Amino acid sequence: MEVKIGGTTLSLVIGDITQADTEAIVNAANPSLMGGGGVDGAIHSKGGPSILQECKKIRETLYPDGLPTGEAVITSGGNLKAKYVIHTVGPICDGFMTEKEKQLLSNAYRNSLTLAKIHNIKSISFPSISTGAYRCDKKEASKVALQTVIDFIKENPNWFKEIRFVLFTEDIYHVYKQSLEEILNVSD
Ligand code: APR
Repeated sequence: MEVKIGGTTLSLVIGDITQADTEAIVNAANPSLMGGGGVDGAIHSKGGPSILQECKKIRETLYPDGLPTGEAVITSGGNLKAKYVIHTVGPICDGFMTEKEKQLLSNAYRNSLTLAKIHNIKSISFPSISTGAYRCDKKEASKVALQTVIDFIKENPNWFKEIRFVLFTEDIYHVYKQSLEEILNVSD
């Protein structure tokens, strides 16, 4: 599914984010930035050791105590098609999301987009942050994710050529597709 908002294409696809050919892809990281499972594990294993080396440097300099939830940092893409990886940390939920968790998840998307803009990046892929190991409710997380991205597009018209959500399964894809349709109907 894809929609045009001004000059920006917002697209939803089913796939593996490590294969995405956008300039940047976003990693659903943890505060250590030392890798993990899910998206994090896939990006580090497909992207190669150079990404971890850059993450270690970030930990030694910018974030000695770890990357706080909602913040974002950037590394190269290593062996990936993407030139850059933006690492961000979503909130850990216990199912349904509190207002604070929604705000932190929104910050993760917004700070990733802001960092992409600073680096003159025009196309970016997101996974469904915090809906795997971090157990946030998929439907609520999808609404926060999509609304944050749409708001950012409207505040930065024609900056991004494409913002893509790469969703790993049919199930999560349909959750995002339904949420996007609901948001767009409301905003018609
Ligand atoms: N491409 C796209 N989406 C993927 C991929 C992939 N290669 N692998 C997993 N996913 C999906 C999951 O199915 C889920 O819908 O990404 C979503 C986020 O899941 P996680 O990767 O578990 O991320 P998150 O819930 O944010 O948890 C982050 O998990 O891997 C660790 O180090 C990471 O501690 C951090 C935590």
